[in-house]
Amino acid sequence: MALDRISLSRFRNHRDTRLDGSARFNLLVGENGAGKTNVLEALSLFAPGRGLRRAALADIPGQDGDGSFAISAELGGGVRLGTGVRPERPGRRIVQVNGAEAPAVRLGEWLSAGWLTPAMDRLFAEGAGARRRFLDRLVLAIEPAHARHAARLEGALRERGRLLAEPAEPDPQWLEAVDLQVAEAGAAVAQARARLVDRLGSALDTLPEAPFARPALAYHPGGPVEQHALLAALTEGRRRDRAAQRTLTGPHRDELAVTMAGKDQPAAECSTGEQKAMLIAITLAHAGLLDGARPSLLLLDEVAAHLDPLRRAALFERLREGRAQVWLTGTELTPFEAIAQEAAVWRVSEGTVERI
Ligand SMILES: Nc1ncnc2c1ncn2[C@@H]1O[C@H](COP(=O)(O)OP(=O)(O)OP(=O)(O)O)[C@@H](O)[C@H]1O
Ligand SMILES: [Mg+2]
Repeated sequence: MALDRISLSRFRNHRDTRLDGSARFNLLVGENGAGKTNVLEALSLFAPGRGLRRAALADIPGQDGDGSFAISAELGGGVRLGTGVRPERPGRRIVQVNGAEAPAVRLGEWLSAGWLTPAMDRLFAEGAGARRRFLDRLVLAIEPAHARHAARLEGALRERGRLLAEPAEPDPQWLEAVDLQVAEAGAAVAQARARLVDRLGSALDTLPEAPFARPALAYHPGGPVEQHALLAALTEGRRRDRAAQRTLTGPHRDELAVTMAGKDQPAAECSTGEQKAMLIAITLAHAGLLDGARPSLLLLDEVAAHLDPLRRAALFERLREGRAQVWLTGTELTPFEAIAQEAAVWRVSEGTVERI
């Protein structure tokens, strides 16, 4: 079992919320603005990363509080995870495992999380950057070290951009050192993305075409994925990059291409329902990859309400087959009738919860 004895203090509109007696399936039901997604966001922060809203730390504390927040939960086996910010250090996120401070990336040793939210409905219409972030989040859930490589790559690219933008010819030795960093971190990032797309693709290949439109994934790297080749491409591209004032090769130009397998149609051109179905298929396949190694969470925000009864039943069936602890939200209980009996259900209202 994943998380239980969950507590949220000064977390957005939840002043002091406790969720006890969680189950495999957990339902959060309440009207718009009640605080359901906020609970899912809190749960997503028990895994490494910025959570399902990618929120800035400053946006999370309750608006009428002192700028601090704290969330904690118990993992099976008596392990207690906690995270939050203290009022005196609003910009710094603290993570605790069994009461001892730990780096946030350590959370990944205990728990992994996947999620699907309404904000992700725009994924295929947005620019490639959104899909890279999506991909990185999927990688991070499996390989917690990915966060470190991605941060190093970002820092090194920023530094390279700064050097290239200087009016004087940049110091070649310095540029060489920065290029090496881009190449090292970039190769690690690109290879991890390629591995994930490969594994996810194999998992998706085993799925039937129905009832969730089966997506085919392709990873199009924005440069060589091997370190030496990437370094060579960077070195070769210096003059061009200086003229363009940005680095034109590397994993920051990667694209995750998604097509609907049955129709061989790019996801961006599919109907909203088909896009949602493909996102569900990817989310479930990813959850399957997470199964086993560590406890995992699957956070499904407003997913059930958008499905017809047949697809809803298929979703519940797939969730039953998996091992993740599942948290679902909705404005009404009706769409969850098929699983309500075996689920822990909370009614959420104005930042409070009540077990029903
Ligand atoms: N830092 C904050 N402090 C206080 N309240 C906040 C903070 N951030 C967000 N809120 C409020 O939390 C409320 C609940 O948000 P949430 O997204 O969880 O609702 P929801 O139950 O998921 O609603 P919906 O069904 O519309 O998705 C919103 O009214 C929002 O204004
Ligand atoms: Mg919501």
